[in-house]
Amino acid sequence: MRPRRALLYVPGDQERKILKAAQLAVDSVCLDLEDGVAWPNQEAARRLVARLLGEQTFRAGERLVRIHAPTGPHGGVAAADLDAVLPAHPDGIVVPKVEAPWQLHWVAYRLQQAEEAHGWPVGSLRLLAILETAAGVERRRDIVRATARLDALLFGAEDYTADLGARRSPDNREVLYARQAVVAAAKAHDVQAIDIVYIRYKDLDGLAREAREAAAWGFDGKQVIHPAQVPVVQQAFTPSDEEIAAARRVLEAYARGRAQGVGVVALEGRMIDMPMVKAARRVLARAGVGMT
Ligand code: COA
Ligand code: MG
Repeated sequence: MRPRRALLYVPGDQERKILKAAQLAVDSVCLDLEDGVAWPNQEAARRLVARLLGEQTFRAGERLVRIHAPTGPHGGVAAADLDAVLPAHPDGIVVPKVEAPWQLHWVAYRLQQAEEAHGWPVGSLRLLAILETAAGVERRRDIVRATARLDALLFGAEDYTADLGARRSPDNREVLYARQAVVAAAKAHDVQAIDIVYIRYKDLDGLAREAREAAAWGFDGKQVIHPAQVPVVQQAFTPSDEEIAAARRVLEAYARGRAQGVGVVALEGRMIDMPMVKAARRVLARAGVGMT
């Protein structure tokens, strides 16, 4: 799966920011038609996003569009969002406030129709879902297996705590359960898990701490809202030289043990067996380097 260490939101009605985002070295850019756009600007945002997707070369690997959550049998506002942006061929669609599998079935069907109509490879338009309500988090297991097209689960802390009636705190304790539940659901179905936005965008030290914590918990990336957050987050989700060297030592020790016919070995005062080997392989895979 493609790396999504940082996924940068850009309000879909702000041309200057979209042009700026197009120049950034960020894994994923997400042009927002939902809560980042004031209601009277909806139609203008759809037109702007479609135009700039067509005109601009994005330095980013990936160009996503966040639509509204589908409502009712005809999708509601989400239908107008998709009608406007799909002909401009984004790489994928982010669906917010997902609470039931049918919402992803509905979007996946629309994506397939667009692929067939335009002659794009079937299955090539990606789908990402945000769980950010109590109902969505509680139905995560059904939602994550709604469609094979789903690439990632994102967790949204601000909407989630607003929905719960919980109060946000600096230590994130009120979202601990949901963050970990979302990682577990994603990993159980082999999709990526993308962590919460750090809204105090001038506090890069706090951001780095939260991003390192997310990486240590198994998240693959983090949603971001400001260009300054991008390098901090992308670095936090890239294994350090020390982590890579440690992973290599684990694999070497294990290989030596196997050569001698044992499956458990000692390394630097620690027991090494298969789970540590798997973790070491994951580190090297994330670093994009080989096993040796
Ligand atoms: N994408 C691209 N460029 C961005 C950006 C973003 N998300 N956020 C800020 N920038 C640009 C600004 O336009 C500015 O560029 P300029 O000097 O060339 O005009 C530069 O980065 C510095 O921005 P700064 O002045 O520090 O921030 P701001 O006060 O303009 O904006 C926010 C602060 C939070 C309003 C802004 O970062 C933002 O809109 N973030 C995205 C919000 C969003 O999409 N929310 C919904 C999803 S949670
Ligand atoms: Mg939200």
